[in-house]
Amino acid sequence: MENISVDISKALSFTGNIENLYIKAAEYNKALEEKTGKGNDFLGWVNLPSSISDNFISEINETVTKFVKDVEIVVCIGIGGSYLGAKAVIDALSNQFNLFTQKPKYPVIVFAGHQMCEDYITELRTVLSKKSWAIVVISKSGTTTEPAIAFRILKNDIENKFGKTEARKRIIAITDKSKGALRSLSNTEGYKTYEIPDDVGGRYSVLTPVGLIPIAMAGIDIKKLVEGAQTMELITKSNNPVQNNPSVSYAVIRNALYNCNKTTEILVNYHSKLHYIAEWWKQLYGESEGKEGKGIFPASVDFTSDLHSMGQYIQEGMRNIFETVISIKNSNNQIIIPNDSENLDQLNFLSGKRLGEVNKMAELGTRLAHVDGGVPNILIEVPFLNEYYLGQLIYFFEKACGISGYILGVNPFDQPGVENYKKNMFALLNKPGYEKLADELRKKI
Ligand code: PA5
Repeated sequence: MENISVDISKALSFTGNIENLYIKAAEYNKALEEKTGKGNDFLGWVNLPSSISDNFISEINETVTKFVKDVEIVVCIGIGGSYLGAKAVIDALSNQFNLFTQKPKYPVIVFAGHQMCEDYITELRTVLSKKSWAIVVISKSGTTTEPAIAFRILKNDIENKFGKTEARKRIIAITDKSKGALRSLSNTEGYKTYEIPDDVGGRYSVLTPVGLIPIAMAGIDIKKLVEGAQTMELITKSNNPVQNNPSVSYAVIRNALYNCNKTTEILVNYHSKLHYIAEWWKQLYGESEGKEGKGIFPASVDFTSDLHSMGQYIQEGMRNIFETVISIKNSNNQIIIPNDSENLDQLNFLSGKRLGEVNKMAELGTRLAHVDGGVPNILIEVPFLNEYYLGQLIYFFEKACGISGYILGVNPFDQPGVENYKKNMFALLNKPGYEKLADELRKKI
């Protein structure tokens, strides 16, 4: 069976010798597995796929099946690592036109608490008021402001609509086993809860209940997702030859490019359903590596759409960028371009060809043009867009991120910089305990 592969051949001419980086990467891969590197108390994700039992998956599927019975919309509340993985997988694998189906088999999963836009929440509440709905609230710390506020608002709504007793049955909370306000609130209210392991940080948590519960609710096969991740866990183990390890190759080449002043990486897709995979990836790499004045800036584009906007910059703008293309080898669907006897649009040279073939030629042509324009290109080939290969892709990126962060010399498992905006926001909102900072900030305004 084919697996995800990485081709770095169109990036090598932009770097120096990479042999030393391979040696380092192999050591760091071992350090991840042996928990001897920085942030070693957050390495629960390394062996997570192989530790997920069939019983656990069956329990999740049973709970979810009961929970979503007669539910039309599930509001999934969370931010950062507590929503992006689920959003990415659900968007990639669900029919995006389900909304227009009369009686969809599974509830529509919508998201809240990932920002604080009043219009968004207002529009959502208007829809919810006419539907049968439920909530999955996710926060590892159980104290993050954005999801906590969204939950306060929507908890109130769901209790008003269904009554307190029924509302309790319509809420699942996913949080720390003992710490945080969400845990104590859930215990008091008697919600069904799932735990987030202590040693798995937010952005590495998609294969815990954080991702698995909402993904299962969307009708996606989480067993296959986990199987894909298990396969990639085996492939990327440190006892395998380093040259056959796609996570090592990816970590090595991006650091080699960074060392040659390629400081921005653009994740490219030619498959619009991958948009949120890129958002998830941006968080994974941005939060893991952007610290101590270092780190590749992770950006993303959806091609061919963005070839008509960002394409110009990539071809001819500042030469500090490189591209990583996620290429889906085989499409799940085929569309043949019809012949037109009048050929008024002059497209008959494409008659009988697949739309996917045109897309592939756009991909190949763009890669060649961008390399010629001075943009190194890394290719990640995914055999099919399905649960199994998304599971592989998720673990592939996670493992590569850990190795890459270690090569860069940072702790890829903390995010100290995220606290600064929170402190300022609390001070400006007069949260008790922040008075001194509030005075300092007001002098700067
Ligand atoms: O990767 C991380 O740890 C963060 O991005 C968190 O996922 C994010 O801040 C949400 O935190 P929490 O789940 O505690 O609400």
